[in-house]
Amino acid sequence: MELPGGVVVWAITHHDTLQELLADPRVGKNPQLWNTFREGRLPRGWPLLNFVTVPGMITVDGADHRRLRALVTQAFTPRRIAELAPAVEARSNRLLDAVAGLEGDFDLREHFAYPLPMQVIGELLGLAVEQQDRLHELSDTLVSSSATPEAALAAQQGLFALLASVVAAKRAEPGDDLTTDLISAREADDRLTEQELVGTLLLMLVAGHETTLNLITNAVRALLAAPDQLQLVLSGARPWSAVVEETLRYDSPVGQFPLRYAAQDIQVGGVLIRRGEALLASYASAGRDEHHYPDADRFDLNRQPAKHLSLGHGPHFCLGAGLARLEAETALRGLFTRFPGLTLAKDGPAPEPIASFVSNSVRTLHVRTG
Ligand code: HEM
Repeated sequence: MELPGGVVVWAITHHDTLQELLADPRVGKNPQLWNTFREGRLPRGWPLLNFVTVPGMITVDGADHRRLRALVTQAFTPRRIAELAPAVEARSNRLLDAVAGLEGDFDLREHFAYPLPMQVIGELLGLAVEQQDRLHELSDTLVSSSATPEAALAAQQGLFALLASVVAAKRAEPGDDLTTDLISAREADDRLTEQELVGTLLLMLVAGHETTLNLITNAVRALLAAPDQLQLVLSGARPWSAVVEETLRYDSPVGQFPLRYAAQDIQVGGVLIRRGEALLASYASAGRDEHHYPDADRFDLNRQPAKHLSLGHGPHFCLGAGLARLEAETALRGLFTRFPGLTLAKDGPAPEPIASFVSNSVRTLHVRTG
């Protein structure tokens, strides 16, 4: 398929082929493997360049990948996630209190689905509350496909500058947070470069909130469109975790993720992918693959088990999967327990898709509490 700027890649849209290639050691994430990149053939200001070059774990393989990933895995172990549960629930309840005070229809995405993951990742990284909205704005521009190349570049530079200032502030005054831990790893034994330090923060920030924001929005939207399915969870017949997993499959929060590259010729599904060509992981398409999921376009909480690839697979499997599941489950249970009569706003604008190549959701979700 052709990406913005006329860049040609293989879109991997079938579940089984995607699963196979995500774990194939002949496929890498280092852009030096990509002919188009190495030969300087990308158009100037290419909007997806940041995903291909950001200095961090998503653009490296092997030992470098293990080194960068190991620096942050401690913060996401099942035990650490379980410890975060009471704080996530308290934040969710505070946001629901604020929502209960809103008059009439309101945008659930803006008032609930966005602030929860942003506050949680903000606290993990030690970001000041006043910085969070600005960081979200810049991060939105970064994942947007409607931003001009100039705006995308300005957003990337703005994010790097803001996160570099966070690093400087934490150097002066260390805190009990992941940013301080990364600074210590850099200073104690030089385990990452300064660029990798800021790149890792950028990745954690963007991956840590844009995705979960989409998951919560997409789940509420799917449930409100299928009252029989909502009833299954409200009656206790199906757990909230089933809503989270089925939403991940049905409406993948990461629609597609750029890019991987063939380090050798690879024959797959009757197609030859040549060494140096690029692959796009098309998660949203894989979730609707009829060969893998019968009646794939139906949101069905009885699908057993609703296995999906929407959190990735193989060495780059989502680091924040446990946190995302905790946040989404807490948010959905809290929301529908507090407002069991939640409905879509009658006169609200029709939901429009986000203009993004990576992020898959709607721009707004207008609801009323009943
Ligand atoms: C619903 C929420 C989420 C979804 C759907 C999601 C999805 C994904 C996917 C599909 C990948 C693999 C990308 C690829 O290589 O093709 C990934 C990787 C990653 N995710 Fe998530 N993610 C979510 C939440 C989070 C959260 C909350 C964090 C952090 C706090 C996070 C951090 C990461 C990181 C650091 C990677 C890169 C891992 C690596 O390259 O080794 N994600 N995620």
